[in-house]
Amino acid sequence: MKHLELTPRLQLLADWVRPGAKLADVGTDHAYLPVWLLLHHRVEHAIASDLRQGPLERARQTGRAWQVHDLDLRLGDGLSGISPDEADTVVIAGMGGEHIAAILAAAPWTRDGCHTMLLQPMTRAQELRSFLADNGYAVVREALVRDRGTLYPVMEVRAGEMTLSLGQLHAGVQVTQDPLGERYIIEKIIRLQGAVAGLNRSAAPEDRERADRLRDIITALLEMREEWRYAQCR
Ligand SMILES: C[S@@+](CC[C@H](N)C(=O)[O-])C[C@H]1O[C@@H](n2cnc3c(N)ncnc32)[C@H](O)[C@@H]1O
Repeated sequence: MKHLELTPRLQLLADWVRPGAKLADVGTDHAYLPVWLLLHHRVEHAIASDLRQGPLERARQTGRAWQVHDLDLRLGDGLSGISPDEADTVVIAGMGGEHIAAILAAAPWTRDGCHTMLLQPMTRAQELRSFLADNGYAVVREALVRDRGTLYPVMEVRAGEMTLSLGQLHAGVQVTQDPLGERYIIEKIIRLQGAVAGLNRSAAPEDRERADRLRDIITALLEMREEWRYAQCR
């Protein structure tokens, strides 16, 4: 049988799943991650859940194609159809950061200390980090992964306390230790500089204020870049 190969983004998530875990993959779409984990006997049980019927049907087809018969398929919004004792590891990947935050907010049991969340926001990661810091979660590990030319953050999250600097909020909790950190910080700075240039063309006071806030973020990111360089020399 052909080998099921994960993309680098999904492979990093798979590598972070504790062996023997009870997994819930929320927003599973094709269910490549849970099917790979079941095929490699890495998990005790895997729920593949999605909001919509179409993706869930794709998940079913992936299970069939790889002759994985114990994939537990669920139709539902976020974690609403999954009870806390059914999973010790929750993966929410491939969605916007604010969407991931909303799914966690609707399932407060995810911060009971018994669960590990593996989160991979495609956009607005800073909104997710801000939600986590304000709601009793801590990022215990964070890494960047390059997939088809784009850098994505992947976070391991548990119940806990954390305080983040402005730079960490925007670039990541452990970005100064990450081999891909400098590239990620520079890409963020370039995007923010573009936004500031656009806002500078406006005379509206709210745009001026927004430009000031973005400049503060750029300054924080430039400091993080220095920290990254310092960390690489040690
Ligand atoms: C881009 S796919 C990501 C697939 C896979 N997790 C990945 O990272 O490659 C996003 C999936 O999330 C599902 N989704 C969006 N909102 C959801 C929600 N509130 N609850 C469950 N699934 C959701 C969508 O239907 C879609 O199948």
